[in-house]
Formats: sequence, structure tokens, C-alpha cells
Amino acid sequence: MLIHMLIRCFVFSVLAEFVISFIVPDQEVLTSLPTNKDPNAILAALRNADIIPDVLNTFSPLLSLTLNWSSTAHTNLGNTLPPSSLQQPPSVIINKIPSAYLPYNTQLVLALTDPDAPSRDDPKWSQVCHWLVTAKSGRVKELVEYKAPAPPEGTGSHRYVVVVMVAKNGTTEGLELTVPKERRHWGYEGERSGVREWAKDNGLKVVGANFIYAQNDKQ
Ligand SMILES: *[C@@H]1O[C@H](CO)[C@@H](O)[C@H](O)[C@H]1NC(C)=O
Ligand SMILES: *[C@@H]1O[C@H](CO)[C@@H](O)[C@H](O)[C@H]1NC(C)=O
Repeated sequence: MLIHMLIRCFVFSVLAEFVISFIVPDQEVLTSLPTNKDPNAILAALRNADIIPDVLNTFSPLLSLTLNWSSTAHTNLGNTLPPSSLQQPPSVIINKIPSAYLPYNTQLVLALTDPDAPSRDDPKWSQVCHWLVTAKSGRVKELVEYKAPAPPEGTGSHRYVVVVMVAKNGTTEGLELTVPKERRHWGYEGERSGVREWAKDNGLKVVGANFIYAQNDKQ
């Protein structure tokens, strides 16, 4: 309930300042959304795809999260989408998981990351930061601007993982967040370093995740 209000605020600020939109659909639309709201099913899908442990440690889902590029392209825990459908920044649909506790006014941080760059077998550039956005009390700020997924030719299927984080200590104060120095490795050293290291350095914990697969037409 509270999170709905919070996100409704985002819509207004977004219209004023940003292309990114956080949308709360009507209740009927919500129930027809493919987003899985069962925390165990979310974790199972992430484990099946090895996103836990490649990208994330195990966590307690408090929010369900969908990126929506168009009426035919949204994240659904491991569906495959053509890169051509991912060109523009998506809207973000976030719902509180029933029974989860998250105070109104909590700052949300959203990241889109590719652990499979240039390929899943050879992740030497990974993770690549594709998007980093934060939202609090009607203010949305893009820390790293949206870079559309563009998996290179012949590199197979990439996992594109979207994550929502909040402050680990439960504060509802505004957060001072660092901006990653580079997209590659999120500015860290080592294969597959990225959102996990950045979240740790910024005192954040993961409370929601979703993902798609995408690959170049030429394989
Ligand atoms: C997804 O985005 C499309 C295009 O902007 C929009 O028409 C559709 O209503 C959105 N779906 C949801 C569930 O918000
Ligand atoms: C809570 O964590 C945030 C983010 O790391 C930090 O900025 C803030 O100072 C912390 N607040 C308290 C009360 O520990």
C-alpha cells in the first residue's frame, strides 16, 4: 500500500523531469501482470539461472519488480527478448510483496547489469552497468544513464539482471551514493565484480530482482 503511494509520486516527478517512468497500474492490470510475487519462486528462478551466486547473494524479496519496455517486452524471470525491443529506457513497475515490511519514504535504488560480457563463457568485461537510478519522495535521479543491451555477434545468450536495493540499516534518510567510475566491472577489479561490490560499499541490500535473456541475431 505504502509503496504504491511512493511510486505514484515518482510518476509526477518523472513527467516533469525524466524520460524514466515509474508506473503503478490499476489493480486489475496488476493481477494480469506476469510478475511473480512469490518470494520462493523469485529465488528459485534466480538460482536456476545461476544469478545467485554469479551476481547476487541470496536475499529476502520484499518487492516484486518488472521492467516494461512495451506491451510485448517486459522482464518475466528469465524470458528471452530481442535486443531491438530494449532500445528505450523501460518503465518500472514495483509492488510490495504481501506481508513484507518497507517503510514509506525508503529510498529505492535500481540497477540493470550484464554479468555475461562479452559472453557467459568469457565474462572478462563483466559486469557491465547498463543503468543506475535512485528514487525517493517523488525525486528520481539517474546516476548512470540507460545503455540499451547490445550483446555482440556470436556471444550467445546474455543474462540482463535488474535489482532493487535499499539501505541495509533501514534508514529513511536520503543516501549519499557513489557513482561507478566505469560501466565495465562497475569500476572494480576482477571478473563478474559489479553490483554486489557497489551495494556493499554503499551500505545497500537487495530486496527485489528480475531478469531476461537477450542475444544478438547473428550467432
Ligand atoms: C508497458 O508499456 C507499454 C508501452 O509504454 C504500455 O502500453 C503498457 O500499458 C505497459 N504495461 C504495464 C503493465 O504497465
Ligand atoms: C545508514 O546507512 C546509510 C547508507 O550507508 C548511511 O549513509 C547512514 O549514515 C546510515 N545511518 C545510520 C543511522 O547508521
